[in-house]
Amino acid sequence: MRPPAAARRVWAVVPAAGRGERFDSTLPKQYAALAGATVLEWALRSLLREPRIEGIVLVLRSGDARGAELAAALGDARLITASGGASRQESVLSGLKRLAQLAAPDDWVLVHDAARPCLPPGDVRTLIDALAPGSCGAVLAAPIFDTVKRERDGSVSETVDRQGLWRALTPQVFGCAQLREALEQAALAGVTVTDEAQAMERLGLRPLLVRGSPFNIKVTRAEDLAVAAGFLASAEAGRMASSMRIGQGFDVHAFGDGDHVMLGGVRIAHHRGVVAHSDGDVVIHALCDALLGALGEGDIGQHFPDSDPRYRGADSRMFLREVASRMRAAGMRLINADITVLAESPRIAGHRAAIAANLAADLGAPLPSINVKATTTERLGFVGRSEGLAASAAVLLDTCDAK
Ligand code: CTP
Ligand code: MG
Repeated sequence: MRPPAAARRVWAVVPAAGRGERFDSTLPKQYAALAGATVLEWALRSLLREPRIEGIVLVLRSGDARGAELAAALGDARLITASGGASRQESVLSGLKRLAQLAAPDDWVLVHDAARPCLPPGDVRTLIDALAPGSCGAVLAAPIFDTVKRERDGSVSETVDRQGLWRALTPQVFGCAQLREALEQAALAGVTVTDEAQAMERLGLRPLLVRGSPFNIKVTRAEDLAVAAGFLASAEAGRMASSMRIGQGFDVHAFGDGDHVMLGGVRIAHHRGVVAHSDGDVVIHALCDALLGALGEGDIGQHFPDSDPRYRGADSRMFLREVASRMRAAGMRLINADITVLAESPRIAGHRAAIAANLAADLGAPLPSINVKATTTERLGFVGRSEGLAASAAVLLDTCDAK
């Protein structure tokens, strides 16, 4: 009896030993430049992002120094290389033989074409999650929506019923020893299989179909590269957008006795001061609230309660530096901050540069990422009646590695 799926480790084999004859280039297609990397590098990246994959056998044509260099440059100890054969089937078999030195016969192995650079990492997760203890394996696939024709001599000979037809993609995942046996049996029978599932089907097994991204195309001809580049660009944009966080903050202080106000850490002479527990710096308080909001960490009152005597008369820049360190701890960086001061007086224009410089220094952010502006409220409301002043702030954050 097989051990439960959880106990079966997961490995990968990436056949990359093809010549890319249909691609029509002297450079094998797996090394074609694509979106800042190569086709092969993109194919490997999606697998390397999956922590459950213990090791990846990259199958290269013998003497292929480029592939070995790439494996070394990726700097992931899980990558090892093996030499391929004359056909894809032989290359996969050769990868499985190398893997047998590391993996248990019952471990799972994902086989993924080097020529498929648009594999979403989420599809790798879904495929592995689909493995049940009794299953013989699973195949990523996409349903066919086009009407399918069979050709004879350049003309349509028939329309194939597309109901239930799927495009088989990779990765496909099977038990290591069982897949090796299936491929060896196919080879013995002189049958060429174009994917791993076909070899398993010959043994009467029925791998699970797992719906994957239809954009996980195999780069076959030169024009496929542009399609792959478009997909990777939109996937990257989506990933960046999902890693961004927006935040906004607002703060008000009433005017009271005093001869200055603090705004963004700048002491500005004024015929009135502000009523506040700390130094009453509305710019910094609004900015802290915006940052904490973006981080999903509540508000300034929670972190620096005005009931705490430590904060009496406190320099608000201390709050900002503390919030900035929380931002870094969360792995986020500031993209930009936009701050508006609402006051009839004092005038802010002459202090904007000094305010921005203080804020940038405390946040460890570049100066151009901070914008400070001011408005009056046309003598309307509490600001217009000069009863106090206010500030609002908006920030956009991004994860540090999402450049
Ligand atoms: N492959 C392999 N060993 C071979 C042939 C193919 O490892 N002897 C790999 C390719 O590098 C590719 C995958 O199998 O990653 C899918 O094969 P295919 O798209 O057919 O690639 P090529 O064989 O390189 O292309 P062509 O058939 O156009 O020559
Ligand atoms: Mg081929």
